[in-house]
Amino acid sequence: MAEAVTLYGLADKGRAVGRTPEGMVVFVEGAVPGDVADVWVFKKRSGFAEGRLERLRVPSPQRVTPFCRHFAVCGGCKWQHLAYSAQLEHKQQAVVDAFERIAKVPVGEFLPILPAPQTTHYRNKLEFGFANRRWLLPEEIADPTIEAQPAVGFHRAGAFDKVVDIHECWLQAEPSNLIRNEARRIALEQGLSFYDLRRQQGFLRNLMLRLTTTGEVLALFSFGYNDPKAIQRYLDALLERLDEHLTTVVYCINPKANDIVLDLEMITYKGKGFVVEQLGDLHFKIGPKSFFQTNSVQAKNLYDTALDFASLTGRETVFDLYTGTGSIALYAARHCGQVIGIEEVPEAIADAEENRRLNGIENALFYVGDVKDLLTPAFVEQHGRPDVVITDPPRAGMHERAVRFLLELAAPRIVYVSCNPATQARDVQLLAEKYDVLRVRAVDMFPHTHHVESVALLQLRSSAKMTGL
Ligand SMILES: C[S@@+](CC[C@H](N)C(=O)[O-])C[C@H]1O[C@@H](n2cnc3c(N)ncnc32)[C@H](O)[C@@H]1O
Repeated sequence: MAEAVTLYGLADKGRAVGRTPEGMVVFVEGAVPGDVADVWVFKKRSGFAEGRLERLRVPSPQRVTPFCRHFAVCGGCKWQHLAYSAQLEHKQQAVVDAFERIAKVPVGEFLPILPAPQTTHYRNKLEFGFANRRWLLPEEIADPTIEAQPAVGFHRAGAFDKVVDIHECWLQAEPSNLIRNEARRIALEQGLSFYDLRRQQGFLRNLMLRLTTTGEVLALFSFGYNDPKAIQRYLDALLERLDEHLTTVVYCINPKANDIVLDLEMITYKGKGFVVEQLGDLHFKIGPKSFFQTNSVQAKNLYDTALDFASLTGRETVFDLYTGTGSIALYAARHCGQVIGIEEVPEAIADAEENRRLNGIENALFYVGDVKDLLTPAFVEQHGRPDVVITDPPRAGMHERAVRFLLELAAPRIVYVSCNPATQARDVQLLAEKYDVLRVRAVDMFPHTHHVESVALLQLRSSAKMTGL
């Protein structure tokens, strides 16, 4: 039975939180703080419950009408029904809460969250799946013939074999919608098979589109098996209609059980096989396998924030931990004496090296390895003790051994960039043994999602002892 709940906040995974009439905390999908709603409680655990919004009794003043026609089913931009100003408030609060409740250390100053300059069309990369089964809308469920229709779009969480058929997505600028919709139309015209995720067979499997701020467009098609004639016929038809919109077209054959393409050969069908993105005055070569920040415009603002916190004068030695394709390291290189990047993915470091050469940067060195293993006294002896450490780990945060090594290293400043304030706060709690947190700034890279980036500036306390590394 549905129960009347007043939602008062946002919690884990961006769900609204309230209390059931019996006083139990309930996390509600589809609600926003301030809503009074009938909630269907479908799961009760010890101490909390999970529910779904059944009927809105009193809408929250923070509610807005979602602008995407796929909002109800897609699941990609879960916060589209929350005003952007309210999204920013909640993200800012999530960062403050993490420092207060997890790190439990004083923070000199929380700077106001940096809003995204674009709240739509902000992603440079999107990946679509082809599937022979379409995710059904509530009103379509009664018609069994629709399920058998093929679709191109996003995989629906919890339904591995079905794809939400996307006709208009607001995450990526044009020609993204044009290309995906033409890719679908031509496949249907040519009678090609869309991938069957249950049986793991079918011809058309995935489409990845990468757009740059300089107007370049890369399309990567993954085919389930190699049929050179069919591939040529398909891609020629696509290029006949969209040649002017596609800078480069690449494909790969993926007969594996998973969608990962990192281990597959890339075949360039049109153009140079990569695109070049510009961040500030730097250029980055991005191939079909390269990692690159997905919001280019806000990535520049994020890096500017990190650089501002680092206060470089041109002489410093900087360590950039978890450097990826070296973008922060290269961004910092022109402002410091030398920069050393560490990253565990060899392909990313190959890109970092290539981008270093492309930009004529000579004071950046890159190393492949796990930060916790590579950061040793011998490494520091070889490169010198850093004046600034920039660290940008994955969502899991840093390994405790790496954090403890930073304490021994005792660099005067640490700039900690994080896509997960909870793990950042956990690591900062350890670092607080020797460091003060001077400033923290939340940065919104992903509007309409609950994700938030956080940059923290840590300064070595003058009382902290230098250790004999
Ligand atoms: C959040 S990304 C940061 C990338 C880069 N700073 C940027 O802005 O593009 C984290 C990076 O850490 C790398 N990584 C994850 N665990 C690692 C580890 N234990 N040692 C070294 N690199 C790691 C990942 O491959 C990824 O490139």
